[in-house]
Amino acid sequence: MNNTILLDKRPVGTPQLSDFKFTEEKIPELKEGQILLETKYVSVDPYLRGRMNDAKSYVPPFELNKPIVSGIIAGVIESQNSNFSKGDFVSGMLAWKKQQVSHGKDLMKVSPEKAPLSAYLGILGMTGLTSYLGLTEIGKPKEGETLVVSGAAGAVGSVVGQIGKILGLRVIGIAGTDEKVSMLKSDFGFDEAINYKTTENISAAIAKASPGGVDVYFDNVGGDISDAVLFNINRFARMVICGAISVYNETSLPKSISVQPFLIKKSALMQGFIVGNYSDKFPAAIQKLSEWLKEGKLTYRETIVEGFDNIPGAFIDLFSGKNKGKMLVKI
Ligand SMILES: NC(=O)c1ccc[n+]([C@@H]2O[C@H](COP(=O)([O-])OP(=O)(O)OC[C@H]3O[C@@H](n4cnc5c(N)ncnc54)[C@H](OP(=O)(O)O)[C@@H]3O)[C@@H](O)[C@H]2O)c1
Repeated sequence: MNNTILLDKRPVGTPQLSDFKFTEEKIPELKEGQILLETKYVSVDPYLRGRMNDAKSYVPPFELNKPIVSGIIAGVIESQNSNFSKGDFVSGMLAWKKQQVSHGKDLMKVSPEKAPLSAYLGILGMTGLTSYLGLTEIGKPKEGETLVVSGAAGAVGSVVGQIGKILGLRVIGIAGTDEKVSMLKSDFGFDEAINYKTTENISAAIAKASPGGVDVYFDNVGGDISDAVLFNINRFARMVICGAISVYNETSLPKSISVQPFLIKKSALMQGFIVGNYSDKFPAAIQKLSEWLKEGKLTYRETIVEGFDNIPGAFIDLFSGKNKGKMLVKI
């Protein structure tokens, strides 16, 4: 029998363990063209929260009583498909199941010799691509400018800040614990970092950390933190709206300050970013990230939770900041 995790209820507010249901199913016999996969690493990501609502978005909502799907690294344990052999590893959007049958379409082979398997879900996967493409395509950073990153100690933010440093910017990170603040400076080379949970006036703290003002803001969180950044933007600032985790669990429309006067006064740009819109640039971006990793210019952190049963818990823990770097579950 095979273990599966289904969406049992649509979460209201912060997701609860009781929103998920564990079930067992029979593994079907392999047919011609199919492969049997065994899950190795599961990526849990904040955007999955949006798919748990019954609302239209850039990806369709999850269906109740159906398995959750996310980025997964799996091993091929049987193959009736000439493109895959037993022992191959693949990355793709797969179901939260211990084993599953696939046609192999939309799966990418990954090599454990080139990089640790987990890296293909982080720095060499969706979050690494988000960091690089969001910053370069919308942020358009220039040497000597100042970059502020929120959600700075997470998978996307920690890489954005490091890329900012590689490109010659002054980088200020905003994160939720003192330990994360020290890590940003010591492990990732940020110039300054701010703990948003213990800082009373975040806008003043940003002004102090970036005396020349903010040219690029990489926004992973939205809400009050992003409002505070707005007060510090320079003329022609670029704001990459990548994520808004601070509002994903809100049950009513949050009140925010009006951004228009800030944008007009500073001729600033604010643009939403979805990594999937840039798929033609993925190969070049992966090449660049791999080069920087090899040269030791870029590093990454992972928080790896063990055990299939702990997937929903790891997902929920994203909302209280339990992770440093990429949150993953190892099966
Ligand atoms: N648009 C795209 O294509 C795209 C792609 C990937 C990710 N994203 C978005 O980018 C953001 C970061 O994703 P990620 O995968 O790198 O996640 P992550 O940053 O590794 O994990 C989430 C982090 O968010 C912080 N957080 C949680 N609640 C918060 C709140 N109320 N206010 C401020 N910070 C809060 C926590 O850190 P603290 O301890 O600092 O609170 C937590 O560790 C998310 O918003 C995600 O949806 C967008």
